[in-house]
Amino acid sequence: MSGCCSSTAQCEGTNRFFSRWSKKYARDYRKKGLAKEQRMLLEGLRAVPLRHAIILDIGCGVGALHHALLKEGAARSVGVDAAEGMVVQAKLMAEQVGVQDRTEYHHADFLVIESLLPQGDITILDKVVCCDGRLDELVDAATRKTGRVLGLTHPRNNLLVRAAFKIQIALAKLFRWKFHPYWHDWVEMKRKILQRGFDLKYESSTFVWNVLVFQRSS
Ligand SMILES: C[S@@+](CC[C@H](N)C(=O)[O-])C[C@H]1O[C@@H](n2cnc3c(N)ncnc32)[C@H](O)[C@@H]1O
Repeated sequence: MSGCCSSTAQCEGTNRFFSRWSKKYARDYRKKGLAKEQRMLLEGLRAVPLRHAIILDIGCGVGALHHALLKEGAARSVGVDAAEGMVVQAKLMAEQVGVQDRTEYHHADFLVIESLLPQGDITILDKVVCCDGRLDELVDAATRKTGRVLGLTHPRNNLLVRAAFKIQIALAKLFRWKFHPYWHDWVEMKRKILQRGFDLKYESSTFVWNVLVFQRSS
């Protein structure tokens, strides 16, 4: 399924930028395994029984995180990414780790094809909320699509990380790059997720990333 990744300038820029980097993402994962923030996310997500779980990985990249969850017992995964190159690499990696029969991929803007996707017992937004300008829509749609647990990572609000993001955003505007990262109000984002009927179950951080796992309130 391909959902309009050239329909908006933002999505086209995201597609081009991350497709260009997709082989490096795949190479890094093969060489080094999961990144530190992904290992933390995995730790937080393990609090949920994985057997029979469906994973919805939004902005799935090369699929490292949901491949790990599948290997640990999750039933199947649906990965969606706006970058075609990422989806190509994710499919290749799924074959290499032997989980291809339990994976399904979509090259699409998640917000465009949301209604066509199944609800995930576990929904993941790993380093995605800072790549999309439509944070409220993303949070709305991701929480709607979460049956039990939502895991996400976002940039930490410290001086160096904030400055690095803001400099990239300023340069992108100056040179009219087609893609740039976004800096949102992360405290407000967390508040919105809690308001939508979730409890915070796990929180941790690296120097760059904050790792949050929410569980739907019973
Ligand atoms: C920084 S990468 C992270 C990839 C992967 N989650 C990881 O942690 O390795 C962000 C990814 O989100 C994807 N993305 C951003 N906005 C998206 C959207 N609205 N729908 C689908 N994918 C999106 C980008 O194409 C990119 O592959």
